[in-house]
Amino acid sequence: MQLSTGETRQYTDLVVANGHHWQPRLPDYPGTFDGVLMHSHAYVSPFEPVEMRGKRVVVVGMGNSAMDIASELSAPWMAEKLYVSARRGVWVLPKYRNGQPADKVMAPPDIPKEQALAASRTLIRELVGSMSTYGLPEPDHEPLAAHPSVSADFLTKAGSGDIHMLPAIERLDGHTVHLADGNTVDADVIVCATGYEMRFPFFEDTEPDLHPDDQHRYPLFKRMIKPGVDHLFYLGLAQSSPTIVNLAEQQSKLLATLLDGSYVLPSVAEQERIMRADEAAHLEQYYSAPRHTIQIDFGRYCLDLMAEIAAGEERAQAASPTA
Ligand SMILES: Cc1cc2nc3c(=O)[nH]c(=O)nc-3n(C[C@H](O)[C@H](O)[C@H](O)COP(=O)(O)OP(=O)(O)OC[C@H]3O[C@@H](n4cnc5c(N)ncnc54)[C@H](O)[C@@H]3O)c2cc1C
Ligand SMILES: NC(=O)c1ccc[n+]([C@@H]2O[C@H](COP(=O)([O-])OP(=O)(O)OC[C@H]3O[C@@H](n4cnc5c(N)ncnc54)[C@H](OP(=O)(O)O)[C@@H]3O)[C@@H](O)[C@H]2O)c1
Repeated sequence: MQLSTGETRQYTDLVVANGHHWQPRLPDYPGTFDGVLMHSHAYVSPFEPVEMRGKRVVVVGMGNSAMDIASELSAPWMAEKLYVSARRGVWVLPKYRNGQPADKVMAPPDIPKEQALAASRTLIRELVGSMSTYGLPEPDHEPLAAHPSVSADFLTKAGSGDIHMLPAIERLDGHTVHLADGNTVDADVIVCATGYEMRFPFFEDTEPDLHPDDQHRYPLFKRMIKPGVDHLFYLGLAQSSPTIVNLAEQQSKLLATLLDGSYVLPSVAEQERIMRADEAAHLEQYYSAPRHTIQIDFGRYCLDLMAEIAAGEERAQAASPTA
């Protein structure tokens, strides 16, 4: 590999852990905007890099970045008017349930997925009620069919009239924002909280192609390995519900056993078969969108990863019984 200094070095294995929340996905609106149009990645605070106090601000999207930024800017002493523009409604979930962080009271992974999902969906509907009662658009999907948008603040701010919902943006003209329903609003700042793209700039034009496809898909065996590409591993390249903080640690267990030879991968054909089945199982609950292509259910993923490590250790034993 070549370093940015120009120096070339040789290594036997490469672990890619460059994160997937740094390359902004920015909408390309027709027209021109005379205010500031920025991505949430550049947002630091209500004062940096743009002074938002007294401004008319549109936040685009309804993921967690939009939840946090819109909630922060909708305080009466912040933006003059705080709009959120969404092309679809989402279920906004509270962060706590029965005094516990919501991810501490999720259904355990040994309960069959269909049952767990049905119970969680009923619970969420009972907990938050209809989104339109907060002045939010009704989702076009079931609870938990999207990466969860979690914020008690957002629900309170929307319900109390501090956040004004808008449909999708159609085009821009000066300070005027034209909306899909034919209405317009005037704005000084647009914050696109529209998510991120996976990028691996260091791969350039490698063969095989190591970039995401045009649907933002990046299938990997156990979300770590491209079948048939030896000595290349990915850590943390998953969109996990509830959290990805613990993900790389769990994945490193498979990597460690693979590198020390106590784990052996299945055949490339078997990796591909398992990869397709895993992807279908993890993604089936979500609506199709670029932001859902690497979504996993962390609890089930961990159980599965541990089972795969045990299976690979058995393969290693069978291949080399005296080791
Ligand atoms: C606003 C925001 C809030 C979030 N909050 C949560 C949360 O509450 N809980 C949660 O689980 N997740 C959250 N996330 C997701 C978050 O991205 C991950 O939890 C976590 O940062 C992922 O860790 P990582 O090490 O995979 O990637 P990163 O933390 O992005 O680290 C990647 C590292 O790779 C380096 N790097 C990148 N490219 C190169 C290169 N070409 N060469 C060398 N080094 C490179 C970067 O400098 C960086 O140090 C949040 C994300 C955002 C944007
Ligand atoms: N407090 C927290 O824990 C916290 C805070 C911020 C971020 N995060 C994490 O960081 C990651 C990224 O979150 P994010 O909110 O930045 O991104 P995200 O989850 O990808 O959400 C992007 C939002 O923008 C919408 N969108 C995308 N393209 C659009 C377009 N062209 N026009 C209109 N809307 C568009 C998406 O709608 P569709 O669904 O229709 O595509 C979605 O509502 C997530 O893992 C999130 O959990 C966590």
